[in-house]
Amino acid sequence: MTHPAARIAELTAQIREANDAYHVRDSPTVDDAVYDAMVRELEGLEARHPDLAQHNSPTRSVGAAPQGRFTEVTHREPMLSLANARGPEELEAWFRRAQNILAAEGLADRPVQFVVEPKIDGLAVSLTYEFGKLVRGATRGDGVVGEDVTQNLLTIGSIPRQFPASSPDVIEVRGEVYLPLGAFGAFNESRVAAGLPTFANPRNSAAGSLRQVDPTETAKRPLALWCYGVAAWDGDGRPKGQWDALQWLSANGFPVNPDIERVGSIDAAAAACASWEARRAELDMDIDGAVVKIDDAELQRRLGSVGRAPRWAIAYKFTPTTATTRLLDVVVSVGRTGALIPFAVLDPVQVGGVTVRQATLHNQDDIARKDIRVGDLVIVQRAGDVIPQVVGPVTDVRTGEERPFEMPERCPTCDTPVSSPDGEVRRYCPNRSCPAQLVQSLIHFASRGAMDIEGLGEKTVSRLFEVGLVRSVADIYALREEQLLALDGFKETSARNLVAAIDASRRMPWTRVLTGLGIRHVGDITANAITAVAPSLDGLLKATLDDLAAAEGVGPVVGGAVVDFLASPANRDLLNQLAQAGVQTRVEGQRGTVDGPLTGATVVVTGSLGAMSRDEAKRAVADAGGRATESVSAQTTFLVAGEKAGSKLAKAEKLGVPILDEARFLRVLTGSEPLPAR
Ligand code: IVH
Repeated sequence: MTHPAARIAELTAQIREANDAYHVRDSPTVDDAVYDAMVRELEGLEARHPDLAQHNSPTRSVGAAPQGRFTEVTHREPMLSLANARGPEELEAWFRRAQNILAAEGLADRPVQFVVEPKIDGLAVSLTYEFGKLVRGATRGDGVVGEDVTQNLLTIGSIPRQFPASSPDVIEVRGEVYLPLGAFGAFNESRVAAGLPTFANPRNSAAGSLRQVDPTETAKRPLALWCYGVAAWDGDGRPKGQWDALQWLSANGFPVNPDIERVGSIDAAAAACASWEARRAELDMDIDGAVVKIDDAELQRRLGSVGRAPRWAIAYKFTPTTATTRLLDVVVSVGRTGALIPFAVLDPVQVGGVTVRQATLHNQDDIARKDIRVGDLVIVQRAGDVIPQVVGPVTDVRTGEERPFEMPERCPTCDTPVSSPDGEVRRYCPNRSCPAQLVQSLIHFASRGAMDIEGLGEKTVSRLFEVGLVRSVADIYALREEQLLALDGFKETSARNLVAAIDASRRMPWTRVLTGLGIRHVGDITANAITAVAPSLDGLLKATLDDLAAAEGVGPVVGGAVVDFLASPANRDLLNQLAQAGVQTRVEGQRGTVDGPLTGATVVVTGSLGAMSRDEAKRAVADAGGRATESVSAQTTFLVAGEKAGSKLAKAEKLGVPILDEARFLRVLTGSEPLPAR
């Protein structure tokens, strides 16, 4: 066992380093979860060994001292931090402690209300107003002394420069500067375009932006602010509590989040926190928790603060979407395009309420760049429904036993030497008959986004492949009930259902068939664009690279992949077999022979129509000899705009494509009005 003094010294150094990276360099070196764990461990040790606790321990200070780039500002009142509660039990425990203190002060019977606010993951600022005029804006710094960033803060339009004169003489308003998520994405994209490094998250980018030496740089970044409190208040009318303070701020033009609630019980506060957590993904800002504050200013004063945090407020931390665990192994699987995909085998860990055993690692370059080694303690992240991913290793705790990962030189399934196509990071198994690739292609073909054959999932496909019943997607259409019944796990109903599902897939549109082929780079959107230039199998087989490149979103890379696919006699055969099996090989309703009022016309239907559904409208177009496509291009003859038409309408307007309302469309459809001229 490490001696507590040694561990305290070690943790102190690690937390200082992490603080410096986070607050000064705006580039965190450790994950929040790891950081919190270190602080908790240190707090625990200090509580058990008060004699060993250092007076300047990082548990007692907030952030890091200013850097000297900006003028120093001493806050009138210190900018405190918050203690954390992980879940409703810890929230209740916090309130019980507060109640005990209040009871000791003889305030047991005073009613308590709570204000529940989002905890925005940005940068705390303090705005000082003298006689209603903004005189200074500062960062938190170490909580006592911050940096004067007034000029930079003035670039944020929502910060009031002044407010009505019947106001306190001096006031410090506290709030959080952040970069809205939408703006963050766009901002990072512009940095990629300019060849600049991107920011890891909105918080770092807000912090980096606010601490620019040149305010015109800050002005380019669309920072925003939510105010969450007032600190110093010289003069009359001091708010009686947190709720009043927020009302006052809002009335005086300060941005205050309108969803902040005041509730009457700790249970209701927990429910409000849960509600923020549930809405988390819909917000245009990163929030990492909710803050519960005891409303009454008198109670706040009596409760006071301990260390760096007030006793009257607490940060309710959301279920972390990151966790740390051991990377047990890196295993390589082969995808349907032959791509070798490394994935992490993890010591099972709870992340955001789910047990995670595996995570993606993207590709070997990514693994090398992040320096992820087998045996490492790694940070795992989960966001919504996204597949969990390994963010990076915790390098501080390495033992030296960890080993770097090397991509195999041969396909793990068929042992063919792997290739790395020019300019691609990925390695590929070049063997088109590699069993792993074949099985994956079959799974893809049957999947929901392609032919949507219910009952033909990974397990069944693998089984059918193993016994040799299905080797190619065309074989699927030759399956008979008797063959299935001979296999383990099939009963009469399941066999009948599968054959019926396969039969139903014969009516899947041509674009789904194209998607299902699993041509490299051709997903559903691209497949759909290709059907516009190759509305039938004949057209596709004859298509040149130039023809394909006329499709929206298809360039030389995607077009080249399609041409390559079609160059293979085996693939051409496969397509013909599918056609013979009765699978759709032309755009719905595109019979080529129909002669009608819309012959030669390409039509896009968008928005909702009154007389028919969009699909019915498309069929009507085809029946009248026209072709209905999904996307508007210069080739579109006209666009039918129903109610709530959106981006397609805008695009048609831009391209000068004639736009028909439903009534006129019906007249053109029946031939009582000629096709619109361009
Ligand atoms: S109150 C006296 N309210 O979280 C209480 N802080 O860990 C001090 N934060 O320094 C803070 N949203 O940067 C408070 N609604 C909110 C907040 C909030 C974000 C940040 C702020 C603070 C840190 C505390």
